[in-house]
Amino acid sequence: MAPYIGSATSRVDGFAKVTGAAKYAAEFNVSGLVHASLVCSTIAKGRITHVDASAAQRVKGVLTVLTHENRPAMADNDEAYKDEVAPDGSPYRPLYDGKIMFNGQPIALVVAETSEIARFAASLVRVEYEKEPHVTDVHRLRDAASAVKDPGSPIEALFTPPKRRRTPEQALAAATVRHEGEYYVPIEHHNPMELYASTVIVEGNGKLTVYDKTQGVQNVQRYLCGVFGMKPEDVRVMSPFMGGGFGSGLRPQFQVVLAVLAARALQRSVRLVLTRQQMYTLGYRPAMIQRIALGAGVGGTLDAIAHDAITVTSHYEDFHRQETGWSGLLYKCANAKYAHKLARLDLATPCDMRAPSAATGVYALECAMDELAVALELDPLELRLRCYSDRDQHDDRPYSSKALRECYRQGAEAFGWVKRNPKPRSMREGGDLVGWGMATGVWEALQVPITVRIVLSANGHAEVACATSDIGTGTYTIMAQVAADMLGLPLDNISIKLGDSSLPQSPVEGGSWIAASVSNGIATTAEAIRDELLRLSRQTPNSPLANAAPGDVVLVNGKLVSKRDPSRAVSIADAMRHGAVERIEQEKITNPAEDDSRAHNSHSAVFAEVKVDEQLGVIRVTRVVSAVAAGRILNTKTASSQILGGVVWGIGMALHEETLIDHKFGRIMNANIAEYHVPVNADVHDINVIFVDEADDSNPLGVKGVGEIGIVGVAAAIANAVYHATGKRVRDLPITLDKLNR
Ligand code: MOS
Repeated sequence: MAPYIGSATSRVDGFAKVTGAAKYAAEFNVSGLVHASLVCSTIAKGRITHVDASAAQRVKGVLTVLTHENRPAMADNDEAYKDEVAPDGSPYRPLYDGKIMFNGQPIALVVAETSEIARFAASLVRVEYEKEPHVTDVHRLRDAASAVKDPGSPIEALFTPPKRRRTPEQALAAATVRHEGEYYVPIEHHNPMELYASTVIVEGNGKLTVYDKTQGVQNVQRYLCGVFGMKPEDVRVMSPFMGGGFGSGLRPQFQVVLAVLAARALQRSVRLVLTRQQMYTLGYRPAMIQRIALGAGVGGTLDAIAHDAITVTSHYEDFHRQETGWSGLLYKCANAKYAHKLARLDLATPCDMRAPSAATGVYALECAMDELAVALELDPLELRLRCYSDRDQHDDRPYSSKALRECYRQGAEAFGWVKRNPKPRSMREGGDLVGWGMATGVWEALQVPITVRIVLSANGHAEVACATSDIGTGTYTIMAQVAADMLGLPLDNISIKLGDSSLPQSPVEGGSWIAASVSNGIATTAEAIRDELLRLSRQTPNSPLANAAPGDVVLVNGKLVSKRDPSRAVSIADAMRHGAVERIEQEKITNPAEDDSRAHNSHSAVFAEVKVDEQLGVIRVTRVVSAVAAGRILNTKTASSQILGGVVWGIGMALHEETLIDHKFGRIMNANIAEYHVPVNADVHDINVIFVDEADDSNPLGVKGVGEIGIVGVAAAIANAVYHATGKRVRDLPITLDKLNR
């Protein structure tokens, strides 16, 4: 039997998905289900002085209109609203009081017999406010803050960026070649296909089943217990399938609180589905202003890096990631300094969005490196190789593995990089200017504690269970592959259970950490199953494995087999029959190995070709090669899809995506996927994904995870290609026609 691990296995849930059998949070039905619809604030800051719901109440079929004035009891302390990935601060409490903190904030919930009635009645609710002045423009805030040296400034340095190295100021001043630039990434939104939704089923005797769109069912369960003072055994949260999360579902979102609130108020099962527009207040990639200064010697040695960032957060929570940290990590450079400030705006708190901090931080670094290469008159790939670092520059430690050099080599070869004419505007094809650019990508390789239960039946079927989520990444499939190999069973004999808070413990699915965590978790539990089978096998009469130790045997083709002498074997069926057991059940927690002596990262080299219409400035990304080193690839098909999706998103980041706010009203003006531009089929051309071999022993299976690395570096590679094509450097994303032609 060929191993499943590493093969291009099609999704085990693919059939259920394409036939519609896979049900999402808004698709679970129960008799007597009622429907909720939101009323959202139309001001950015202030408080509600009056809510007139009388017209809504009079609509036939309306059951209730809940506001902060008449809602059932909710917790009154911040701690209750903190979830496992909450930032510091005071989490937003839906319908808690009359305070308005962002435009689009939920302020009333209409519940009715049908969703149409609920939505219509919601349009009749009249709200009066007492407005306060708001600021939603990060540039305005920065300009104001630099004008007055006010310690109470809304731009604050709230946490410590990576430690500085040696004397960056002197090194910058002494550098032969310098580049300094300011780069901007606007607010961007996740826009997963599936709308956020919760269906809350009132089971009687105080118990609720909550079908919720989330990346972490147990995180939502704990959160609901905190907010409503419920016991874990009374709230079961389910999320068997998810139509895209990208980080927007890491924290419990307000729709789940509101649906549970309504279900408790009415003692009826309730569904709340957010509209696309309402999803724009759930969280977003924070806008980011970055200044990077690089100093180099003529030979292309990097002597100094200075990286300053301002990122956006709300007034009530301090969301940030280590945006500047990637600059210090990636290249060999003796002198470095960083600063990171948070700009408090009258918006909802941002949240993680695919490769949070790296997608943005590495964009600035990799564009700056390209500009430095131009200043040095050096090939941009050659510059990266001269600054290549085999050690983590922050902590001066080796990597568990780093096959980035090989990514550069294989990526450049597949792309044909040697044929690049370095001169901007030198390559043409018909009326198009052709540009070739490249960039490096980097992400973390993490593993988290996770618990897996396996139940093996005498008929050779196994059920593998863990409360993790499959957010569309292929978790069901890789879990089945790993279990099949570890248990020596065909893939079809494995059933996977996940997305249910009653299953064994798992953290949220995020940070690209679930593949490594759950696959090694399955390996641990499968070993316990094997040990139990061996114990039973030894007891069979004249057992061929009588003297075998656990490490001497493996499970292959439904049998426990001696590694030294494959003729010595006992079938699973025989072992269990002699042991008189119908099933073997094991549940084990797997903790990551403590290994701070080495850095654990995945890497990529991204090469992009753009064609720019010289007359109109229209940019097309005609080719992308992404060469990725991410340890062992569990499934080349689903992993390629992850990188492909990341590259497509990188095209969006470079050329299309931008959340536009009318700062006069503090309101998002393009809160829909018609006016918030994302790459469509016509924008996506040839994408070639390469996985570079990389052996890593950070965990037994050598897995690093691929959910996020695919987007990192892509926007920079495209921006650098646009410069190469046109000779025009656009540093504020997205690179739109007007910026290219101004
Ligand atoms: Mo990811 S942004 O941690 O879902």
